[in-house]
Amino acid sequence: MIIDWPALRAAATAAAERAYAPYSGLRVGAAGLTADGQVVTGCNVENSSYGLTLCAECGLVSALHASGAGALPAAGDAGPLVAVAVVAGDGEPLLPCGRCRQLLLEAGGGDLLVDTAEGPVELKVLLPAAFTGTDLADRRETR
Ligand code: THU
Repeated sequence: MIIDWPALRAAATAAAERAYAPYSGLRVGAAGLTADGQVVTGCNVENSSYGLTLCAECGLVSALHASGAGALPAAGDAGPLVAVAVVAGDGEPLLPCGRCRQLLLEAGGGDLLVDTAEGPVELKVLLPAAFTGTDLADRRETR
């Protein structure tokens, strides 16, 4: 599948322009490409109770499922996302925070390509030795 990175980054930049970030002043936009060519986006939404802040990637993953695209067959080892671009308000790539790497893992698997200033990087490189649903299933105790 050919990935139009400039278009994905532009979609993320457009989402960043709609961010609600009056407290940090850091607007963030995220855009994800699904295996069947859909683009879903999200932006960060802050709150006066700071800890309630939603990252842009959270919005993206929510939009992925809410749009129905989340039900698509897995492209890789897990989830329908194949590529994601996350940018700040200046339109340049921003590396996803740790929590969002974990969220994206479930939406795209380790092969998910993440846009960086140095080019696309597989999520498994950004989040090595990740905890997954397999660990959960293997280690859950019955009560
Ligand atoms: N932020 C994101 O939206 N995604 C990330 O991966 C890193 C951080 C947002 C959260 C908060 O609104 C602002 O950036 C500053 O941390």
